[in-house]
Amino acid sequence: MAGVTDRPFRRLCLQMGAGLVVSEMVTSDVRLWNTRKSRLRLEHSGEPEPRSVQIAGGDPEMMAEAARRNAEMGAQIIDINMGCPAKKVCNKAAGSALMKDEALVKDILTAVVGAVDIPVTLKIRTGWSPDQRNGVTIARIAEDCGIQALAVHGRTRSCMYRGEAEYDTIAEICSALSIPVIANGDITSPEKAKQVLDHTGAQAVMVGRAAQGRPWIFQEIAHYLEHGTYLPSPSLETICNILLDHLQELHSFYGDVMGPRIARKHVGWYLQTTDGATAFRKQFNQLETPAAQIAGIREYFTHLIEGKEFAA
Ligand SMILES: Cc1cc2nc3c(=O)[nH]c(=O)nc-3n(C[C@H](O)[C@H](O)[C@H](O)COP(=O)(O)O)c2cc1C
Repeated sequence: MAGVTDRPFRRLCLQMGAGLVVSEMVTSDVRLWNTRKSRLRLEHSGEPEPRSVQIAGGDPEMMAEAARRNAEMGAQIIDINMGCPAKKVCNKAAGSALMKDEALVKDILTAVVGAVDIPVTLKIRTGWSPDQRNGVTIARIAEDCGIQALAVHGRTRSCMYRGEAEYDTIAEICSALSIPVIANGDITSPEKAKQVLDHTGAQAVMVGRAAQGRPWIFQEIAHYLEHGTYLPSPSLETICNILLDHLQELHSFYGDVMGPRIARKHVGWYLQTTDGATAFRKQFNQLETPAAQIAGIREYFTHLIEGKEFAA
């Protein structure tokens, strides 16, 4: 997820029970890789395996080159983005816009699979629009081209993020394919993960937004799927420690200026449901240094743990 699944967050999700994590998407236009943002997205040192890197673009040769270069730089899986509805991506005929052009999908997948000797996976939506739900056709093309696993977000491109995800098309895709299918969209709890797996016959589920500020959702889901029982919710002390580790990773990955800025949105996610968070966040967002952020979080959680109001 662009702006979310950076290296610190991927590491944390893996530690918290995710089976596989994928990098933020990287443009296939290698001429744009020299920006600080792209360099950080392409940085994998010390990253746990397997390292899956997502590429986005609409030109088969450029996508193939991007895949080759990422494999050289340490990617162990190449994931192709045909799921992103953002205008910035779609206007250039990339992301989910590609699903409109089945011949081009085939060309891109063939070029990328042929360019690298590591597995290539694909992320799609269920179609271009509710009346052009061609997810099954695209899925068949993907399997024929040698794609090794397919993630499907249960919305069409025109649905953006509106409405509820639907899982019937994912179920159809699962029956049509023999490669593993990963079901995605609105999975926010262990029960929902189980329902979606049962309904679709998918081999795995993928969790996006529900992991923001709640990376322990992966162990909650894994535990429920394995044992049919719930893990107790993490205590405030545990959440505080997870968040402090996360902040420290963000500070060291992005540095003392950018790190605290990027940390703010994550802190907002962690504190979505905690008491007195609105007042605290206002104050937290003024803090500019790593040390001040760490001290601020410690103080806020100490108040919470002692059951005291946070006074801004
Ligand atoms: C902020 C944001 C950024 C995203 N970036 C990407 C991306 O780079 N590549 C991708 O395949 N999907 C991306 N997605 C889509 C998610 O991977 C996922 O398909 C979608 O959010 C539905 O799953 P969820 O309901 O579990 O969040 C993004 C979603 C959000 C909210």
